Amino acid sequence: MSQKLIVGNWKMHGSRASVQSILAQLKAAQTSRHTLVVCPPYPYLAMCAAALEDSPIAVGAQDVAASTHGAQTGAVSAEMLADNGCRYVIVGHSERRLAHSESDAMIAEKIVRSLSVDLRPIVCIGESYPQRQAGLTETILFRQLGTLTQKLSPEQLSRVAIAYEPVWAIGSGKAAPKNDILHAHRCIRQYLNAYGSHSNTLLYGGSVNPQNAEELLSIAHVNGLLVGGASLNGEHLLCIANTC
Ligand code: G3P
Repeated sequence: MSQKLIVGNWKMHGSRASVQSILAQLKAAQTSRHTLVVCPPYPYLAMCAAALEDSPIAVGAQDVAASTHGAQTGAVSAEMLADNGCRYVIVGHSERRLAHSESDAMIAEKIVRSLSVDLRPIVCIGESYPQRQAGLTETILFRQLGTLTQKLSPEQLSRVAIAYEPVWAIGSGKAAPKNDILHAHRCIRQYLNAYGSHSNTLLYGGSVNPQNAEELLSIAHVNGLLVGGASLNGEHLLCIANTC
């Protein structure tokens, strides 16, 4: 199996103590088969970046502002993330699209900001359960991708990792069926290829765990995994990052 990208999204979980304990587990392992990225909450970013400085594990953020600076209380810019040792950033997670009314256009802007400082964006796309039931999966994926192709050149888009996260599989304890993942990834790959963006890393996210990682990574066009709950356990995350 070629090298994959494994990204742990810790969401709004953890404390200094629990983060330190996960970091100790990750550092003790020193290396993993696949490229590993951890995305802690903002307050722990600098601490993780410092602790992992000499390790191959990279640090990412869970969101970024759509502009560079200014009177935006609570916002964090791409420049600030890069300045604090981040190399990746998750953009457009469904939890942010829903709870913070993030539009596709705003998400595209966040990607542009991130690319401008060499932060690698991981953009999340995927349909809700009612949309899936209504047979709208492809429509939703193409709409979400369509805003990116309007805003980004093929060269810019090729530097973006795309995570297919069906909203109904997130936190459900049950990953999407293999055929659904295969179909979605094939559609995404074809859409990107047609635009001239040929080298995108495509991830799957939604109830990934050490037990299902091998099967998920074996699906065609799946170049990695975006892991939520299971990434809060250092051993589980390492196990996923060492999946053969
Ligand atoms: O970004 C990761 C994600 O939303 C999946 O979460 O807990 O289902 O692995 P989880």
